[in-house]
Amino acid sequence: MKETVLLFVACAVLTHAADSQTVPKLKLLDGHEIPAFALGTWLGNNTKPAGHEVEDAVSWAIDAGYRHIDTAFAYRIEDQVGRAVAKKVTEGVRREDLFITTKLWNENHARDQVVPALRESLKNLNLSYVDLYLIHWPVGQFSNRTFDYTDYVETWRGMIEAKQLGLARSIGVSNFNQRQIDRLLEQGLQAPAVLQVEINLNLQQPSLLSYCKEKGIVLMGYTPFGSLFPSKARADAPPPRVDDPKLLDIANKYNKTVPQITLRYLVELGIIPIPKSLTKTRIEQNIAVFDFSLAQDERDLLRSYDKGYRTIPQLKWLDHPYYPFEKPE
Ligand SMILES: NC(=O)c1ccc[n+]([C@@H]2O[C@H](COP(=O)([O-])OP(=O)(O)OC[C@H]3O[C@@H](n4cnc5c(N)ncnc54)[C@H](OP(=O)(O)O)[C@@H]3O)[C@@H](O)[C@H]2O)c1
Repeated sequence: MKETVLLFVACAVLTHAADSQTVPKLKLLDGHEIPAFALGTWLGNNTKPAGHEVEDAVSWAIDAGYRHIDTAFAYRIEDQVGRAVAKKVTEGVRREDLFITTKLWNENHARDQVVPALRESLKNLNLSYVDLYLIHWPVGQFSNRTFDYTDYVETWRGMIEAKQLGLARSIGVSNFNQRQIDRLLEQGLQAPAVLQVEINLNLQQPSLLSYCKEKGIVLMGYTPFGSLFPSKARADAPPPRVDDPKLLDIANKYNKTVPQITLRYLVELGIIPIPKSLTKTRIEQNIAVFDFSLAQDERDLLRSYDKGYRTIPQLKWLDHPYYPFEKPE
């Protein structure tokens, strides 16, 4: 009897140890589930894809336990994501266990352009469906970069058609503000399952987060490191940096790194972080945040860095009627 109890306890601990590294899933309002951690694949505006750098990153990520990959037509690397996914599926990973997000670019906002644009992304990705399709920005533009004033409500109707055709399991929006989401809902149209916006220590968006929680919309947080790394921080960016002594204290306490502490904080807020890395060791490090929890005083410190500071204000679209962010004074 004593041995049975001991065996039971040992099994329970082992199960817990294995589970603690597994990425949980969140429920979407359309019934599907979404892995609560994703790999980002944007190389930045000034970096041209070289060939297989993203393909390698996605392969390493899947090996490390990532099941959710965030990409976009505009990143010009959907083909690399597709090759990595195909390779991993050949090696035995099930397609249905992967969650692929991609985005509709601003040049295809006309309602009847949405499905053809998604079909082009699917061709790039070599997939028959994506798990999540997002309107990348509420702002439309033509290929010559002049503004297209198509109402994003019309674009959303095209997204609903894409979902009805089974080309996207779930649909959502990116870089929309609360008012713009409300406008979709006021039309009686189905709600976006996901909102993807910038979220990091300097831009925590608490009111948008509570709005999304109230509506059942899952929030994905892009640029999760914000200005943490000095090489990426603009001169006016508020603290902290990666060598901040208080953050280092927290990281040392849990035997983690400062980037891991910031990712864990977002996870605990219920946000899906999308860290991008092309570096194998960082890819592996970033996802290892599901085996510890922050204390309340640590969360309070992390909350105090929120200064409403945006790293991607996209000021070039400031004069578009659907520019989504607060305008500088
Ligand atoms: N919806 C949108 O409009 C939108 C906008 C921006 C981004 N996104 C999505 O969000 C993703 C993430 O955002 P982001 O790429 O702007 O920024 P990010 O993930 O906050 O930062 C990426 C940078 O951090 C470095 N890095 C990653 N992990 C690290 C670690 N553990 N230690 C030190 N450095 C580390 C990377 O370097 P290495 O690569 O050299 O390792 C890279 O320079 C994008 O890739 C994209 O998928 C969406």
